[in-house]
Amino acid sequence: MTENHRKLFVRSYGCQMNVYDAQRMADALSPAGFVETNRAEDADLIILNTCHIREKAAEKVYSELGRMRVLKAERAEKGQDTMIAVAGCVAQAEGAEIQRRAGGVDLVVGSQSYHRLPDLVACARQGRVVDTEFPVEDKFAHLPAASREKTLARGPAAFLTVQEGCDKFCTFCVVPYTRGAEVSRPVGQIVTEAERLADAGVREITLLGQNVNAFHGEGPDGTAWGLGRLLHRLAEIPGVARLRYTTSHPRDMDDELIAAHRDLPELMPYLHLPVQSGSDRMLEVMNRGHRAEDYLRLIERIRAAQPALALSCDFIVGFPGETDADFEATLDLVRAVGYASSFSFKYSARPGTPASTMDDQVSEAVKSERLQVLQALLEEQRQAFNHSCLHKRMDVLFDRKGRNAGQLAGRSPYLQPVQIEATGVAIGDIAEVEIVEVGANSLFGRLTGARPRSNARMEAVA
Ligand code: 5AD
Ligand code: SF4
Repeated sequence: MTENHRKLFVRSYGCQMNVYDAQRMADALSPAGFVETNRAEDADLIILNTCHIREKAAEKVYSELGRMRVLKAERAEKGQDTMIAVAGCVAQAEGAEIQRRAGGVDLVVGSQSYHRLPDLVACARQGRVVDTEFPVEDKFAHLPAASREKTLARGPAAFLTVQEGCDKFCTFCVVPYTRGAEVSRPVGQIVTEAERLADAGVREITLLGQNVNAFHGEGPDGTAWGLGRLLHRLAEIPGVARLRYTTSHPRDMDDELIAAHRDLPELMPYLHLPVQSGSDRMLEVMNRGHRAEDYLRLIERIRAAQPALALSCDFIVGFPGETDADFEATLDLVRAVGYASSFSFKYSARPGTPASTMDDQVSEAVKSERLQVLQALLEEQRQAFNHSCLHKRMDVLFDRKGRNAGQLAGRSPYLQPVQIEATGVAIGDIAEVEIVEVGANSLFGRLTGARPRSNARMEAVA
């Protein structure tokens, strides 16, 4: 491998923001001559892009580092150098611990320093480097954009981070510590990035933020824009046919954002709105800042604005002090809402968070039992939602080849995977499909032949 053509392998754990960050890290290292590989054993630079949200996720890093060290030794025997870097939230939270526990790590880089990766990699050749500062400069202003070809290769659905960090301080959560205080990117910067994506053929953009609906980026008029206003602006970009945003907090669903669900056909009728628990007592000790009833009323209002809306959610079972009655209240809330899809977790005590030292920690056995009951109910609801789609017509964005030759696969407005026989449509197209069969994890459809709405905008500018 020559000096100006080195191979990079990035493995991401955790949330979608890490997927986005991995792409930006690859973009940042591209001018330094790094090309991506999906084989760790071929890589001159291995980056583990880590997640700290629950203990299991954080521990995975250390076992993966063990495997990577073996790879490094094998490559060294062949005379090949390998640099191992740890990025993401574990790097941010446990920089020193990683140095102590895991030999073979050359570089630890926090999430606000990715724009400095080429320099940090160069420095790490001289000796171990740890950079977990929150630098004063804006990393986004310094991160290079992906080339058109690279963007295209990543597919027609893209992520775009608009906000990072969180000021909510839910008592179980490490995010305010690992990702820091809430910061929103300026609107102009986001629009430029979205235009570049659309120009390369991206049709769907998911706006990302740990607390995305708290977005308050500076607009071109110098005032702070909310997420609703930003969505309106992004919907004007030719080629942008679908918009989504995640993850939101119930307290930040303002009127403008709810109205965007009514007024913007580009905004998909699918909302991830975590509630964590259905018990007011738990919501209080979790510091969520609202009651179960407030959440239910809010959902009524969003559904009134967009009757086609479907919801997904995050839940935690076994938070300290959670009783059977508290857990029942969560099940009641789930029954009252009816979710299309959800994530649920056993509470995991995280160092440095207020909940980790609370009395009445719930036993593993009780957590497991509750998780099983909750997941059974959520799965029932997911299946019911999928079955309610049978014989319905919906737009699908095709983003990959299907399981068998001649098939294409895509995503419904509700992110369900949809398979079709591919005649007359290509990857990147949005076409109307009638759902003819519902599988355990996918829907199967046939093209209706209707002219897709989303092409109108592209034709208008052509
Ligand atoms: N234990 C379990 N689940 C957690 N989450 C966040 N922190 C914890 C924790 N300490 C879950 C929440 C959040 C999702 C991203 O992860 O449900 O919404
Ligand atoms: Fe964590 Fe979300 Fe709560 Fe912020 S709002 S502290 S990211 S769970």
